[in-house]
Amino acid sequence: MAPLQRVAACLFLVLSPVTVLGQSSFTDIEPAATPVPVASVAGAPLQESEILQLTDAVVKRLVDDDSISKYAEYFAFDDSDVASGKQARRAASASCKTFLDNSSWPKDIIWKLFDVLLGGALIPTKPVAAPCYDSQWGKKDSAKCADVTNNFTNPLFHEADPTSNMWPIFQGRTCMPKSDTTGKTCTLGAYPEYAVKVTNVAQIQLAINFARAANLRLLIKNTGHCYLGKSTGAGALSLWMHNLDQIDFLPNYKGPGYSGPALKLAAGVTARQVYEAADKNGVTVLGPVSWSVGYAGGMITADHVVAFQVVTASGRFLTVSEASNPDLFWALRGGGGGTFAVVTSVIIRAHPKLNVVTAGWVLDASTNSVDAFWTGTKKFYDVFLDWADAGVYSFFIMGNKPAPFLTMIKLVKPFFDYLDANNITLSKPHTSEAHRTFYSAYQAAWGSNSFPIGLDNSLPANRIVPRRNFQEKSNETFALIKEHVNAGRHLLGYHKTPKKYANTDNAVNPAWRECALFLITSSDKTLDHSTPEGLAIANKDLQENILQPWRDIAPVSEGGGTYLNEASVMEPDWQESFYGSYYPRLSAIKKKWDLTDVFYATTAVGSERWVVQDGEQGVQTQNGRLCRA
Ligand SMILES: Cc1cc2nc3c(=O)[nH]c(=O)nc-3n(C[C@H](O)[C@H](O)[C@H](O)COP(=O)(O)OP(=O)(O)OC[C@H]3O[C@@H](n4cnc5c(N)ncnc54)[C@H](O)[C@@H]3O)c2cc1C
Ligand SMILES: *[C@@H]1O[C@H](CO)[C@@H](O)[C@H](O)[C@H]1NC(C)=O
Ligand SMILES: *[C@@H]1O[C@H](CO)[C@@H](O)[C@H](O)[C@H]1NC(C)=O
Ligand SMILES: *[C@@H]1O[C@H](CO)[C@@H](O)[C@H](O)[C@H]1NC(C)=O
Ligand SMILES: *[C@@H]1O[C@H](CO)[C@@H](O)[C@H](O)[C@H]1NC(C)=O
Repeated sequence: MAPLQRVAACLFLVLSPVTVLGQSSFTDIEPAATPVPVASVAGAPLQESEILQLTDAVVKRLVDDDSISKYAEYFAFDDSDVASGKQARRAASASCKTFLDNSSWPKDIIWKLFDVLLGGALIPTKPVAAPCYDSQWGKKDSAKCADVTNNFTNPLFHEADPTSNMWPIFQGRTCMPKSDTTGKTCTLGAYPEYAVKVTNVAQIQLAINFARAANLRLLIKNTGHCYLGKSTGAGALSLWMHNLDQIDFLPNYKGPGYSGPALKLAAGVTARQVYEAADKNGVTVLGPVSWSVGYAGGMITADHVVAFQVVTASGRFLTVSEASNPDLFWALRGGGGGTFAVVTSVIIRAHPKLNVVTAGWVLDASTNSVDAFWTGTKKFYDVFLDWADAGVYSFFIMGNKPAPFLTMIKLVKPFFDYLDANNITLSKPHTSEAHRTFYSAYQAAWGSNSFPIGLDNSLPANRIVPRRNFQEKSNETFALIKEHVNAGRHLLGYHKTPKKYANTDNAVNPAWRECALFLITSSDKTLDHSTPEGLAIANKDLQENILQPWRDIAPVSEGGGTYLNEASVMEPDWQESFYGSYYPRLSAIKKKWDLTDVFYATTAVGSERWVVQDGEQGVQTQNGRLCRA
């Protein structure tokens, strides 16, 4: 807590003896939660964390308790947010979310009461790398600092911390781990002020009500993977969802619009946990490549969702499915995390076990001439739509250090025959393995793979190329990729033309439905990213020299777009690039369910109404006050 707050709290205590009594009696105050009868919602039982709720009766208990009644309004529901404009007028008069230096920032005694009502779940933030510095959080501890430094590129380390996140540029890099920190400081930057260690729904409801009533910036952090800084925010209260980890297998599920095997997953469950649970129960589920990504929050396998349980901006716990609040159901499936509601659990369809064949190889210029390398790579581009149509999903990495290379994870025979016929050799020979289950194949192909995190040497970016553009502009696309790699840049590529679509009436960017090629890259790592000036130059280069040619190949007007997760946070016209033609509809749903913007996340639906006043950081960070645009 800042020294300023302590002073304010002391004065408060001296001047107000009644409050001292009130505060000491907080020890008698029960957590604001009550078990609700275990009911089946959307065809499945509530999870343990969902049984403990904040109800009107609990709020009345707070109002009726003389020792705390004057604070009760901070924790009450406000249903007017959805129904009328009352709240909107109140919030419209606040031009910024409150901040530590603002006299409206809740007094210590209110934070104390909040903690008691949460059952002791409020955690004041300590930057994860604080042990590397002499700071308000204590003396430098070199051994602990070494542990943080060693673990900073490990996703599990960040997900286990209440407020850490994986791409420090957007936090403002105000407390980076390093051994020599002489003359450097450690400050909060865009880490929130407090996090709630969420273990039940009542805590989420309390935090939302408190944030709304006190005009606090509110964050949702699950794993902290977001590559755009959505799970960070200066001066905020954060909901740390990671500990909600229940997984229920529902073999004979019957719910809205679907009967069959399903899984009900709590919001903190990660991809690997889901794959593992599905495998153990003899089913397969769809999900991301990266095992450490959260499954139900920022990333969701939209077409496979049957229902969500959520807490909305009004503080209410709701079921969301095609039968219940269908507009929210539509938006939550693809419309992005952190802005419509807090998801507490999700029910997803499960599929039968799959046989999967994995294959991998490396083609590079160490065993070929550079020309032969490009001839082989061109062939790869020429055949890959056929493969995709045949059900092959492929992922490849290209770069040119030390010499041009193409690493491929899955594949087929005619391509290799072509290489042989042209005397093009693979530096890592083609190998393939048959797997009886998806999980076994996943473990073999991805299980131990970790993508870079904890770094501050680049800015992420991507583009979705539709099939028609890929075909009609195949020579330009290939030339562009060749130029990109020859310029010393890297890319991750995915080929996919999923055909058997179902349950697609949702908010997934329409560009995905036509996607043939998905490209991920970053700003040029050889440029200086360490200062605001350097970042600004690297970002300009990213926008103009790297992304613009990709946008030209796949403009929104032709069905192209951007994946809203591993994207450039500075993408111009992000509304249409990230959400396509769905933006107006998403925007209307946001206004209906969160009229006063209790939820904000950068580049999320509705975020154009706000700016983070972060000064000159070279790129948009979350290290500043959140104010109306
Ligand atoms: C190393 C790495 C690898 C990745 N690999 C893949 C991949 O293979 N495939 C892929 O599709 N994406 C991938 N991504 C992108 C990833 O999907 C997004 O970063 C996603 O937002 C992560 O969600 P999270 O909940 O884990 O992260 P967080 O950073 O904790 O949250 C991200 C956003 O979701 C919101 N959110 C989190 N939980 C909830 C909730 N319960 N309710 C409402 N909103 C919530 C947060 O407010 C925030 O806006 C990767 C990212 C990284 C850094
Ligand atoms: C201070 O807080 C009030 C009320 O929450 C808000 O209206 C105002 O915009 C804030 N001012 C600044 C400068 O943050
Ligand atoms: C981090 O790395 C160190 C090795 O330096 C290890 O001993 C430690 O247990 C790891 N984990 C954490 C949480 O620090
Ligand atoms: C490949 O090598 C063989 C034997 O060295 C040669 O006969 C053949 O012409 C070569 N083919 C091509 C396409 O270069
Ligand atoms: C690409 O270039 C080749 C010749 O280099 C040409 O035969 C082909 O028609 C071109 N494809 C398209 C789609 O323009």
